[in-house]
Amino acid sequence: MMQMYKNTKLFYRSIGTGNPLLLLHGFLESSSIWDPFVEELSKRRQVITIDLPGHGKSGSLEEVHSMDLMADAVFNVLQQLKTEQVTIIGHSMGGYVSLAFCKKFPILTKGLVLLNSTPEPDNEDRKKNRDRAIKIIKNNKESYVSMAISNLLSEKNRTCFPKELEKLKNEALNFSEDGIIAALKGMKIRTDLTSTLTLYNGPKHIIAGMSDPILKFSDIQTIAEATNSSFLSLDGGHLSFIENKRELIELMHFID
Ligand code: MLT
Repeated sequence: MMQMYKNTKLFYRSIGTGNPLLLLHGFLESSSIWDPFVEELSKRRQVITIDLPGHGKSGSLEEVHSMDLMADAVFNVLQQLKTEQVTIIGHSMGGYVSLAFCKKFPILTKGLVLLNSTPEPDNEDRKKNRDRAIKIIKNNKESYVSMAISNLLSEKNRTCFPKELEKLKNEALNFSEDGIIAALKGMKIRTDLTSTLTLYNGPKHIIAGMSDPILKFSDIQTIAEATNSSFLSLDGGHLSFIENKRELIELMHFID
């Protein structure tokens, strides 16, 4: 399904009925990452997936896609679907958006799952890497996309999922340069939402990859404890939806 938001097309899907679950993909991904999960999960509930602005088939809204702006786009889709409360699972950047959504619309948030994600903002190193990435994309989007995606798997898994990685890369290559850069700028300026997570009273879970190359496992475990979130670990890297597909489907059944 498609709807216009700020004169831009947003694509989303809704399958099943009752107890809505919203799945938000990460950077350089689209709603298609959830394809292997949707059929199973929608047997028991409504499952909503959205292509966030500048990703998948959705257009770009502005020069910077702040996490707040993406959360507003998500809210707009949910209004269209007339959902009341939703449980949200956000992968990485989708987790940043989930928290921005929770801060803006706590009453609409029934539960939160941060998958390979964090409430913390970029540190100075990561901010510098965002600027570096923007320069590389302007010169060679193809090599950036390929390198950025391969670097997300655990070392052990780097050669294990060639088909899945090829699919992710091919899809991301079709995203506009503007959309990719807008997300990088938005992630760079995101604020610390640790207190949002701490104050949130609903069910909250953090699922982390033990060998995540971009989010240090022990840091995420500490954050889970500090924010009173349940902590679940998987043995792969940053792409649990590929590296730990079976276990993740099982976990998703138990999140409410
Ligand atoms: C993602 O997977 O969404 C991004 O890698 C997150 C990030 O770069 O912070």
